[in-house]
Amino acid sequence: MSELVEEHVDTTSVIARMTEFHSGLRLGHMLSTVAELGVADHLVDGPLPVDELAARTGTHADSLYRVLRALASKGVFTEVSRREFGLTPLADTLRSDAERSMRDVFRLQGKPFMRDAYGAIEHTVRTGEPAFEHVNGASLFEYLAARPEMTALFSRAMGNGARQVQRAAVAAYDFSGIRLLVDVGGAHGHLIAMVLDRYPDLRAVLFDQPHVVSGAGEFLDGTGHRSRIEVVGGDYFESVPAGGDAYVLSHVFHQLSDEEGLVVLRNIREAMVPGGKLLIVDPILPEGDVPHPGKFMDITMMALTRGRDRTEQELRDLLAGAGLRLVETVALSAPSSIAVVTTGASA
Ligand SMILES: C[S@@+](CC[C@H](N)C(=O)[O-])C[C@H]1O[C@@H](n2cnc3c(N)ncnc32)[C@H](O)[C@@H]1O
Repeated sequence: MSELVEEHVDTTSVIARMTEFHSGLRLGHMLSTVAELGVADHLVDGPLPVDELAARTGTHADSLYRVLRALASKGVFTEVSRREFGLTPLADTLRSDAERSMRDVFRLQGKPFMRDAYGAIEHTVRTGEPAFEHVNGASLFEYLAARPEMTALFSRAMGNGARQVQRAAVAAYDFSGIRLLVDVGGAHGHLIAMVLDRYPDLRAVLFDQPHVVSGAGEFLDGTGHRSRIEVVGGDYFESVPAGGDAYVLSHVFHQLSDEEGLVVLRNIREAMVPGGKLLIVDPILPEGDVPHPGKFMDITMMALTRGRDRTEQELRDLLAGAGLRLVETVALSAPSSIAVVTTGASA
């Protein structure tokens, strides 16, 4: 830091900001706790005294009160009268049935297998190995595959977060002219459903791990587009369904290391029709100090997987290694962008 800048640093505000960051750790745990307890769901019909909330959630009233008081000081819940709490716009996102519910995101974060992985980031920084594997003895997807209940929670949490990005992607990108869209790692098919809603001539393949797509039936049946969707279970490290003129990797590419990513990119390039396109939906990180939510998502990738979020140059370099090139990037109003990719070397 130059002397000139140092001279103007306000020590009080520096300490206040660092203290705020320090509180963040507890804030995350408190949000996970009230999400797990379903507190917001109990307040849908109006504020309740904390004793009543404690009775309904089977909790210790005074401890619940102290958590809600702290959260209310951040605008999550409000103490409408002494020891009586109601919803605020922030607390509303913790309702199970909120349109953009974050309840499962916070519940998932509070599960020991996730929470302890974030707590072991130091291990990753020391060794380069994913904290998740160090703590849980298996990779994230191996771990989930053996636990159907956690797979369901993970899928719902990812789905809720992803929906906002998917909506933005479908609004921002023109899918007309595409005949067959293959969603690689498409989970239960929410993105596909949104695209098919808008483009009646398009057909789609939903591709994901067998135990994931086997749970997609109920959602797909409700889309009204079932006859235009083929469901395929498999492993993208082996191959992906052939014949698509467009492929999507939505929040999948960043969970892959460079080596793994190259394998998947090559499999997609082999599978796509000549001149086909690949749409990679992930954050694209700005260089330097520029704030961007993707820089925190990258830490999630680092702790949980061997993947990473990438700058545009890092993406270009990887694509080149698979005989692909970046055509354009489409910024979304959400943290992610669409990288539009096609075959051939960069100009
Ligand atoms: C973070 S989720 C993204 C889901 C969805 N595309 C979205 O945008 O919400 C990553 C997906 O990759 C899938 N996946 C992980 N390993 C896979 C593999 N080897 N082959 C196919 N899909 C895989 C997971 O099952 C999961 O559905």
